[in-house]
Amino acid sequence: MTLWEGRFDSGPAAELWRFTVSLHYDRRLATDDLAGSRAHVRGLARGGILSESDAGILVAALDRVEEELATGVFIPGAGDAGAGDEDIHTAIERRVTEIAGDVGARLHTGRSRNDQIATDLRLFAKRSLLEMSSRLVDLQSVLLSRAQSAFADEVYLPGYTHLQRAQPVLLAHHLLAHGWALARDVDRLFDARRRLDVSPLGAGALAGSSLPLDPDGVAAELGFSATFDNSLDAVSDRDFVAESLFVLALIGVHLSRIGEELVLWTSDEWGFATLDDAYATGSSMLPQKKNPDIAELARGKSGRLVGNLAGFLATLKGLPLSYNRDLQEDKEPLFDALDQVGGGVSALTGLLATVAWDADRMRAAADTPAAAAVDLAEWMVERGMPFRQAHATVGGLVRDALQRRVPLAELVAAHPALGDGALELLEPGVAVTRRTSPGGAGPVPVAAQLRRFAQALEGQRVRLAGA
Ligand code: ARG
Repeated sequence: MTLWEGRFDSGPAAELWRFTVSLHYDRRLATDDLAGSRAHVRGLARGGILSESDAGILVAALDRVEEELATGVFIPGAGDAGAGDEDIHTAIERRVTEIAGDVGARLHTGRSRNDQIATDLRLFAKRSLLEMSSRLVDLQSVLLSRAQSAFADEVYLPGYTHLQRAQPVLLAHHLLAHGWALARDVDRLFDARRRLDVSPLGAGALAGSSLPLDPDGVAAELGFSATFDNSLDAVSDRDFVAESLFVLALIGVHLSRIGEELVLWTSDEWGFATLDDAYATGSSMLPQKKNPDIAELARGKSGRLVGNLAGFLATLKGLPLSYNRDLQEDKEPLFDALDQVGGGVSALTGLLATVAWDADRMRAAADTPAAAAVDLAEWMVERGMPFRQAHATVGGLVRDALQRRVPLAELVAAHPALGDGALELLEPGVAVTRRTSPGGAGPVPVAAQLRRFAQALEGQRVRLAGA
């Protein structure tokens, strides 16, 4: 059935139907569509447009549709051209009318699918962004508990710049670096959610209505914190989809960077980590293989998340006010981004909870004498040498050690500005303990950081509970 039969002599062509139908994905908005319709019906009753008894009949029919959808008694279907349901709004209105008879024809009073879909999608996004925050809190909890035990075990590894070994860092510090990025993501999700928390219902097709609608009451019933100010903006604004796609793409990029490190760390060349069997895959041909597919897909899927954002911004860019059917292209990228990021966060949470660290390999890689080079320079700085001169001195020693193939320690001991007193800096495990400055990678600041991260995480939980 189409919703516009009166004006048309013929029904839709098969190709039009196939190309424009959205039921196969917007059926995901059924719960939100029903909630929006219930609130709309009560608003109409408050305005005296619907009698209390008709409103009661419609709300009861909407409740029954919800139940029928849940139990599979009612299965919307796009069917053949014009014979099935074009979208979830049409499907629900059809079923309401089948159940409520003539009263069903009053459901769409003062409403358009334009304000209806904008309402549905905002309700859906509000809930989904919150669920995503909750998943990110779980991932951060795992990072925190792995960081706490790595801290207790004094595990350290090389920190890298340019993927070249730079200075030793505590593993706890490294894990929390990813944790803070995810903490910012949760903040972004809440921020995006706050801005999208506006009800468009009552904007009608684009200009409002001649009927005494009650947009504020409807907004309050739906749990929105505000009502639209401009009906044109209400039906055409998809900033919230673009913002959500950005935040999801950025989360995807963060997962990708975690994934990339896990790919490196689990290789034989690095040997820093071994995946639990449940979170690794094998090869169909090579019996010895254990592959980090979760980490690779976390890395790989970030590409399509960026694509979802770029594609949707391109869809929006040339649109005149107000509603255009192009806007129907908002849902698939959003659903896809939520599904992919949600799946990635959960899989990485399990992987990180179970991965085994090879602390000996990490420490051995970090304990190369050159990793303490800056400590040697700072040792001389503490004794009055200008840093640039100290840097050049140690650089020269490192170069000599490499060229003449002698241990760095020997050259340090023999150097007049260093000597035996500086040798201790080259002992395994010493350099990392010297990162004492606030926010640094050594045990003193990391102990404080662990407490701050735990507090930040608790703050996120409180925010979630209050949302
Ligand atoms: N399926 C449409 C969408 O997602 C619903 C709104 C349709 N409105 C219209 N005037 N054709 O945007």
